[in-house]
Parts: sequence; structure tokens; C-alpha cells
Amino acid sequence: MSRRGSIDLTTTVAGVRFPSCFMNAAGARCVTREELEALGRSRTGAIVTKSMTVEPRSGNPEPRYYGFPTGSINSMGLPNLGYLAYARIIPELRKFGKPIIASVAGFVEEDFVKIARVINESRPDLIEVNLSCPNVPGEPQIGYDAQASERLLAKVRKVVSVPMGVKLPPYFDPAHQEKMVGVLERGGVEFLSLINSVGNGLVVDPDRESVVIKPKGGFGGLGGSIIKPVALANVRAFWKLFGGRLPIIGTGGVCSGSDAFEHFLCGATAVQVGTTLVEEGMGAFERLEHELASLLEKKGYASVLACRGKLKEL
Ligand code: SIN
Repeated sequence: MSRRGSIDLTTTVAGVRFPSCFMNAAGARCVTREELEALGRSRTGAIVTKSMTVEPRSGNPEPRYYGFPTGSINSMGLPNLGYLAYARIIPELRKFGKPIIASVAGFVEEDFVKIARVINESRPDLIEVNLSCPNVPGEPQIGYDAQASERLLAKVRKVVSVPMGVKLPPYFDPAHQEKMVGVLERGGVEFLSLINSVGNGLVVDPDRESVVIKPKGGFGGLGGSIIKPVALANVRAFWKLFGGRLPIIGTGGVCSGSDAFEHFLCGATAVQVGTTLVEEGMGAFERLEHELASLLEKKGYASVLACRGKLKEL
């Protein structure tokens, strides 16, 4: 249990207890068995797998990740071991005694259904359906198509018995968020992960007069500090739209305890760490816990959940 001094950093998402409110984001240091086991040994509050596809994938050509002082850009292209490998690994990860979240992706609806059915049998604690990978050439982000999202969720829901959530792309217009609310309700979604990277950004190195990653002519998903306001806006908007009833895992720009605190104020129930974990390694969890606990103590909150949704408006 993550209790720092008198501060309770545990949380609960869709009825599942997490020993810490911090965990890795799908994609960050979670592709191989070795990485997943290293997460198990770390202070992460959950082990989140890389988004898995039907076939194993080596992903896009390198360089495909680039970190810079205020964030990162990636176009990994879903490198992963394939769902059958994760179905074998997930039961072995139980020994670490923390929740396991299986991230499920695919290219057509039937991929998602096929993977979800088998992965559900390997008994992860939760399944996160990734509707938002921006990096596979020619494949649009499903979360930007409300009808396609609804069709897919209806099918996947039928084969999933553990709590099912979705990882959504960032939305930039309230009309799009409002439209998704009905889709998510009808789809039986039990938690949200907000947000995936801000897709199809472009980072330019003026010295080399060049893009910084190879795939898609340099276009890729942005993460880290620069996307925090977009992440917070989506967490806050969905928190309000669902009246605080649906747990939200906030992702985007969690580099410090204070960043996590901002996510909780906006309504997050837990947070995922992407760019910071890639850059800093597993020690990031300990630092983040320490920073968040110190901040909560200074502010007089006894737990992370005590400040959830408490953002003041002017
Ligand atoms: C990737 O593998 O390209 C990133 C996955 C994602 O953003 O969902």
C-alpha cells in the first residue's frame, strides 16, 4: 500500500484497488516480458501492457521516438509481441500483487474482438481498449469516428467480463466530447484513459533542418509537458459530462507530483506516466509519489481521492 507518512496514495478504478495512483502509460517500457516484470518490481500502482495486436509487430522504422526538454514525439507503430504472447505473460505477472491492465488494439473490429476474448480469459484486472493510436500509416484513430467507436465497443463488450475502459484521443471541441458520452455509456465503458498522444504533430530540428523521427515524414504523437493543458482539459470535460461517475485515468504531462495533483483536481482517479517514464526510468514512480505526498500534506489533503475534482472555477 502506498502510504507516504500520513498521506494515502492508493486509489480504486472500476472497483479494482490500486496500491498507488501512479502507473505506466500503455507504450512506456511495457512491450517485452522483461519490461513488464521490471514494472512489476517497481513502485508502479499497476502493470499496463503495450497495446497488443493480433500479429506480433516490430513497428515503424527508427528513429521513431525523440525526447526534447518539454516533451516527446513518437511514431512507434504498435511494436508488440502479439496477443497470444501477452495472454501467456499476464497470468505470470500476478505474482507482483498489483493490478494488470491489458491494452488492446487492432486494425479492424474483428481484431479487437478476437484479442479481447482471449485476453479476457487470461484474467487481467482491467482491459483498456485503445481507440486512439495515431501512428499506423493509413489507419485513422477510431476514437475520432463516433459511429465506428460505438460499433466496436458493442462487439468487444460482449466478450469482456473484467472492467473495460477506453483510451481516447484528445478532443478539441466540446461537441465531440458530448457526442462520445452517449457512445461510451451505450458501450458499457467502466473507465476512461485520457488522453493518448496528441496525434500528428511535427517537431523540427532547425540545426539539421530536418524532422526528428523517420516514420510518416516526421509526423507523430506528442507527449510530455507540452500536452498537459490538452490532457487536463479532456479529463475535466469528461469528468463534468459524466458528473464524476466514471473513473478517469489521467495521462499527459505527468512529470511531477504537482502535475499529477492538477490531474486529480480536474477529476482523475489515477494517472499514467509516459514520456517521463521513458526518459527517467522506473525511479520516476518513487519520485512522483514523494512529490505528490509532500504537496498533499502541505495543502492539508489526507489522500489523493480527497482532492479529486475539486478544481475551483472563477
Ligand atoms: C505507437 O505504438 O505508435 C503508439 C501507440 C498509441 O499511441 O496508441
